[in-house]
Amino acid sequence: MVYSYLSEIRKVTDALIFPKLTPNVDSISEIALAAVRGGADGISAINTAGPRLYVEPVSGEPLLLNNSGNRGGMSGKWIKELAIEKVSEIREALGPDIPIIGMGGIETGEDIRNMMRAGADIVGIGSLFASIHPDDWNSFFPALKNDVINKTNTASAYRNINRKMEYVPHTITGIKDLPGNARVLELDGEISFKAGQFVFLYIPGTGEKPFAVMKGSPPSFLVKKKGTFSSKVMELEPGMQIFVRGVYGKDSPDTDKKKVLISAGGTGLATALKLAEKLKGEGKEIHTYFGMSTPGQEVMEDDFLQYGTFTAVADNGIPGRVIDTMISELDKNSSAEGCALYTIGPDLFMEKTAEDFIKAGGRTEDVFLSLETPTRCGVGLCGECECGGHLTCREGTFFSYTYLQELNHED
Ligand code: FES
Repeated sequence: MVYSYLSEIRKVTDALIFPKLTPNVDSISEIALAAVRGGADGISAINTAGPRLYVEPVSGEPLLLNNSGNRGGMSGKWIKELAIEKVSEIREALGPDIPIIGMGGIETGEDIRNMMRAGADIVGIGSLFASIHPDDWNSFFPALKNDVINKTNTASAYRNINRKMEYVPHTITGIKDLPGNARVLELDGEISFKAGQFVFLYIPGTGEKPFAVMKGSPPSFLVKKKGTFSSKVMELEPGMQIFVRGVYGKDSPDTDKKKVLISAGGTGLATALKLAEKLKGEGKEIHTYFGMSTPGQEVMEDDFLQYGTFTAVADNGIPGRVIDTMISELDKNSSAEGCALYTIGPDLFMEKTAEDFIKAGGRTEDVFLSLETPTRCGVGLCGECECGGHLTCREGTFFSYTYLQELNHED
């Protein structure tokens, strides 16, 4: 089967083909040989091992929920020995001339040397990236190369082993239901976070979803009913447990403008609160505009008023009406040129806010958007949140409008 797949693919492309082989077979070398006979230029090995059932230790429930018995493929350091063994088998079967990319749990210079000794020509790194911040990648690689050559272990200094992947149980201490199928969830304990950072809320048996932290003490979240997870949140009651992992993302970018407009749509209000607090602490003049689908969804109004003005506008059938309010007040009071804008909400809402602000005289470089890209791991591992080569879960959620426009032009 592998031979016929590769032969068909070979017929339609001159591209280099390095099929990535699973170790979960009786003879990986037989499959590698079939792939090369079918036209593969080389082999990449190994793919994930397993699948295995993983029971999350804090809740005692399976972490993955799927039709394969809640099992998933295993990667990372747990499969390193297996990867080296399989690459060795493949090398023996293929002889010295076919290139092999060896991967699976590689973390150090010593691992790379072992993988090359087993027969790999190129060594791939995957899971390790979850523990290295993108800002460090440019320094990490030379250090790792140096470790391979000089048998040192300097690159490990770039690893952040505190990835905050563990769930922390919290008890729900308060619930405030809002009109329009929304609610504020209050938990016990405390969460320390910065504007733009987020956590995952986990309900065993349902799954997990990312949420902006609205307040850290007590930890508060604004949830609107949309899908399975948020529907489950609507069923929770005080006294029940929910699990939290994180925080992820980084602090919001700075502005040199004295006057700042914050425009938040829907649950974007959660992020706005910490942002207003931070900017007020820097001596800025803050004006927060909140666009809500249903009147009565404004929460934490008193908190916002500590930091500046707060204007809530219901859509009343016209999504984003709050943007017009913000721009018209701007026309009356001052020019947009002297302001910075931070916008948080659905993509279309943010785009329109940014465009109208610029039309009103604001400068592109003074606009920042909080991106809600699909997010799965939160630690820079899965690539799901990638935006133009940047990982939102590590480098966001705020990006400058200038950067996002450059991306658009590249597309
Ligand atoms: S890399 Fe997985 S969510 Fe960002």
